[in-house]
Parts: sequence; structure tokens; C-alpha cells
Amino acid sequence: MNMKIGDLIVGEIIDFTHEGNGVMKIEGFPIFVEDALIGDKVEVKITAVKKSFAIGEVEALITPSEDRVEYKFDTDTLGGGVPLIGYSYKKQLEWKRSKVIQDLKRIGGIDAQVKPVIGMGHPFRYRNHSQVPAGKVEEKVVTGYYRRKSSDIVPMEEDHLQPEVADQILRIVRAWIDKYEISVYDRDRGEGIIRHIGIRTNENNESMVILVTTFSQIPNKFQLVHMLVKDCPGVVSVYQNINPTDSRFTYGREYIHLFGKEKLTDYIGDLQFEISPDSFFQINRQQVKALYGKAQEFLEGDKDDLVFDLYSGIGTISLFVAGDVKKVIGIESVKAAVMNAKENARLNNVSNAEFHYGKAENLFPQMIEKGERANKVILDPPRKGCDKELMEAIIKLDPERVVYVSCNPSTLARDLKLLVEAGYRVEEVQPVDMFPHSAHVECVCLLTRK
Ligand SMILES: C[S@@+](CC[C@H](N)C(=O)[O-])C[C@H]1O[C@@H](n2cnc3c(N)ncnc32)[C@H](O)[C@@H]1O
Repeated sequence: MNMKIGDLIVGEIIDFTHEGNGVMKIEGFPIFVEDALIGDKVEVKITAVKKSFAIGEVEALITPSEDRVEYKFDTDTLGGGVPLIGYSYKKQLEWKRSKVIQDLKRIGGIDAQVKPVIGMGHPFRYRNHSQVPAGKVEEKVVTGYYRRKSSDIVPMEEDHLQPEVADQILRIVRAWIDKYEISVYDRDRGEGIIRHIGIRTNENNESMVILVTTFSQIPNKFQLVHMLVKDCPGVVSVYQNINPTDSRFTYGREYIHLFGKEKLTDYIGDLQFEISPDSFFQINRQQVKALYGKAQEFLEGDKDDLVFDLYSGIGTISLFVAGDVKKVIGIESVKAAVMNAKENARLNNVSNAEFHYGKAENLFPQMIEKGERANKVILDPPRKGCDKELMEAIIKLDPERVVYVSCNPSTLARDLKLLVEAGYRVEEVQPVDMFPHSAHVECVCLLTRK
């Protein structure tokens, strides 16, 4: 394709990338375009040309997509994590389903029954955990989000994806920074103390606040605790987290407990969970009920069943299904999450679930080698999916059913392919929209032995 930087090209957006950028094709050659929605006719200026694709910026929106929607609030202030926000929610769900179908086919060679995506009735205020950077704009202390590919912070007074209480907590933290003239972190200079504010909120609107700082000595930190507790009675726990580096992770390794409960208690259905500041907990509590409900249905638990729950986190899925089966064995690589899982089992009076600390790809094959048996397996890996060693160990174990919960259709397709080649059939795939307005889609899949 004879295309060069600076070229102006007119065309229609026909798809989204997995990051939610628009995709336009000129003679079959893809151009990825930020801030463009399927159905938009746009004039695009080419900013980079690679071997198999180009990147462009919208110069002019010639005809907006018929599926564009507007909200009463300014959607630009929601930041970069929700690129599909301007696209009708119904259409977002249709696109997510087609993405799952395409990835399964293209990467896994799998033609599966993919159900319509389970969406939300009101797809806002659904995030129960946010990590918000602090900074300065024109000498004013702000919290917000990083402008794309930049260390500038775009200020945000109200975030329609978080519970309202999070907006209030951020107002109090900004007021504390102002009052005590605490320095905020400047990514360009590598100077300043306050980096991020982490907020986890439970079903009852109680919050854990995690103040992420460059080093442990910070002035007036107990004044912050006092201000939070006085003006926001829902704050039940405050931590300081130390992160001395500019890594891609918001939280560093060290936590200092400053106030209140050490763990936040949250609820999924009838179950209670104790959550440490560094534990994984599903972001969208409402949708997780649909997700786990499907996993439970697909597992078809029976009183004789022995089940492995690999990547078990704080034990959520294990405890959800424990009542239906004889025994569940969880494996998880974050130590605090394993401890939480054990406490959660006690808290919910579950005595037939055990949790082990280790990497699933190491520990699971070792346990199988030592003779541990199970007739059903649940998998819920992070975005990178499962290691090959783990998939091979599952094939060796030869369970009658595998329930795979995935947050990334591409790695899901890659992993399912191995199971299909080993004689499993993909019976059903149920996508669930855990992150409305983003390009992410979660799936629960049922595989049975042929
Ligand atoms: C998508 S989460 C699922 C957690 C849990 N099933 C849930 O629904 O809350 C993935 C989990 O895998 C854990 N993890 C990441 N890599 C792992 C590995 N190699 N072995 C075991 N667990 C791992 C993470 O700490 C995280 O708790």
C-alpha cells in the first residue's frame, strides 16, 4: 500500500481494535483511528505507516455514525478507558459478541455457540475499585486521568463510572493536599509525594482509601485520615502504599495500615468476602453475579464432584460452587489472596474448599503428578491466559468438564484450541459485559469431553 505520513484519507470506520480504536480499510489495508466509532465517515491524517497497518488521527468527522449517542454529562471527562462511550450500548454489546465469535474462529479455528452478551440495565457507576492519579494543572491540585500517551493529567470532578462516594473522597484528598501543601508527583520530573488515590467501595458504600506515595515519610497523614472520617463516614479503612518507581503498576509492594479495618468486606449474592488492599476482586459486582451464576450452571455441580479452581483469587468462584460439590481446590499466586480465600471460606462456613499458594502452571501439574484427582476444572486466568504447561496438565488429568472464565477472547481462543485438539468440545460460550463502554469482554465457556 502506497501510503505515507501526512496523507489525508476519507473512509468509513467498520470495526474496533481490541483497544477500542476505530478500524478503517483502504483496499484491504487497515488504518487504526483513535476517537472514531463504527459507522463514522471521517477524514483521517496518517501519523504512522507500518508493514501491515497504519495509524491515523481524525481530521474531520464528515458524517457521524447513526449509532452515536449523547449523554447529559461530558463523556470526554471519563478518560481513555472507555473508548466506546459514544457508541450506543446495544451496539457495543453486539460488537462484543461478534469479537468473541471472530477471535474463536480466527485464532482457535472454533465455530462455537456464542450467546448474546449479558449487558447492564444501567451501565454506569459500576466500578468498585479505581486508581486515580493526582497532579497539578496551572498550579491547581487535580485528580483525574492521564491524557493518552502523556504525563499530563486531565482533571475530573465527577466520574460517572465510580460510585458517587469516590468523587467525595477525591475532593477531600485534594483539599488535604492544598491545606497542608503536600507535593504531588510530577512524572516528567520524577518529583513529588502523592501519586495516586486508590478507592475500593463495597455494596454498602463503605470505602477503603489507599494513598499511593513515592516514599513512606509523608507529612500530616493522620490529618488526612481525620478529614476523611469526619466528612465521609463511609470510609472504614485507610492505607498508605509506597511505590517508589514509575512502573506500569499503580501500587508498590509495601502497604502501611493507617486507620480502621484491615480488610473491606464485600458481598456477591449471599457470600461475604474479605478483601485486602492488594487482592483482586471483580470490578463490577452486579455483573459478576451473572458471570459466576453461569460458571456455576456450566459446572453442573454434583455431590461426588472434585473440582480444581485455578487462578482462584480470594476464592470467589470456589465458594460460589462449593455448596454443589464434594470438594474444591483453589490455586492462586498472590499470597494475601490465598489467605483471604481461607478466611472467606471460614466466614461463609464453607469447609470443603482448600486454597494453595503457588503458580498454577507449576503447582497444578505437581499436584496431579502426586496423585491429586478432580473430574471438573474451572479456569479464570489473567489477560495473558494459561501457560502451555497448565493446559497440558489439564489434558493429562482428563476432566469430564472444563469451565473457562476469560477476560481476553484472543488468549481464550488460543487455549481452547489446545483443549479441542485434545478431544474436548466447546458446548457454549456466554459473554458478559463486565466493563461497559470499554472494548473488553468477559466470557464463560463450557467444554466437555467428547
Ligand atoms: C482474573 S483473576 C480471577 C480471580 C478469581 N477467580 C475471581 O473471580 O475473583 C486472575 C487471578 O489469577 C491470579 N494469578 C495470576 N497469575 C497466576 C498464576 N501464574 N498462577 C496462579 N494464579 C495467578 C491473579 O492474582 C488473580 O487473582
